[in-house]
Amino acid sequence: MSTASQTRYAFSGADEVDDQLDALETMLDPGTLQCLDRLDLPAGARCWEVGAGGGSIARHLLELAGPGGRVVATDLDTSRIAAPGARILRHDVRSDPAPDGGPFDVIHARWVLMHLPERREVLAGLVDALAPGGWLVIEESTVEPDGLPVLTSSAPADAALFRRFSGAVVQILADAGADPRWGARGLYAAMARLRLEDVHSVHRTDSWTGGGPGSRLHDIHTRQLRDPLRARGFTDGDLAHVRKLAADPGFSALWYPLVSTCGRKALSA
Ligand SMILES: C[S@@+](CC[C@H](N)C(=O)[O-])C[C@H]1O[C@@H](n2cnc3c(N)ncnc32)[C@H](O)[C@@H]1O
Repeated sequence: MSTASQTRYAFSGADEVDDQLDALETMLDPGTLQCLDRLDLPAGARCWEVGAGGGSIARHLLELAGPGGRVVATDLDTSRIAAPGARILRHDVRSDPAPDGGPFDVIHARWVLMHLPERREVLAGLVDALAPGGWLVIEESTVEPDGLPVLTSSAPADAALFRRFSGAVVQILADAGADPRWGARGLYAAMARLRLEDVHSVHRTDSWTGGGPGSRLHDIHTRQLRDPLRARGFTDGDLAHVRKLAADPGFSALWYPLVSTCGRKALSA
């Protein structure tokens, strides 16, 4: 279905993508489920999961939609979407028309639009694909360029290294066209400008401790983004030290925030 050729998505093609998606689901699904479970979806809801990744949210939408409901799960790379019962489609949300099966009662995308330079046009296209009264749920992160705040570390140099490392990860994403702060700065206003009603935003930030579930993504980034990190002055020794911190129960920091913003298309639209 996709007509687009290239994506600038910084993580595509990397060997560690399976691990990365699993780490995201572990850390982010509790917040996403809380947010989706609050929506008053009609029985038999038509749902579209955009950039479905590993498919955990498509599976949850299938449960929410119940018998007679339909879920379309789309991604540029559909090979990892595990969602039996959903219709799985290769689809570039930047350029492909909305998939058949709409208009949709709920459209959800997590950590997808912030990566796309065309995010505002994509957002408008998603609003067009909503049924009257349908919900748009867009979840992003929001990270400052100086990295993730450290909570405990055994040496100031460790805290400084981790902040420099997490700041560099964010900068690498920004260089590839992402807006790492869009979740808190711009998304809410963009949804309101598109005349969605009841726009509402919830920010959640977990802490993580070395060796715990939140540490995995940092370990993965040291390998997945090794080349661009080296280009920013990180040595293999620095990256090995970040992995050591990620395994150290004495080290803790804040994780990437999850900013969930939802809004509803007017019934008369
Ligand atoms: C950071 S992952 C998030 C995956 C999933 N939404 C989650 O939160 O677990 C971003 C996902 O968006 C997909 N993606 C990137 N660019 C896309 C595009 N232009 N159209 C559709 N999907 C895209 C990637 O393939 C990847 O699965």
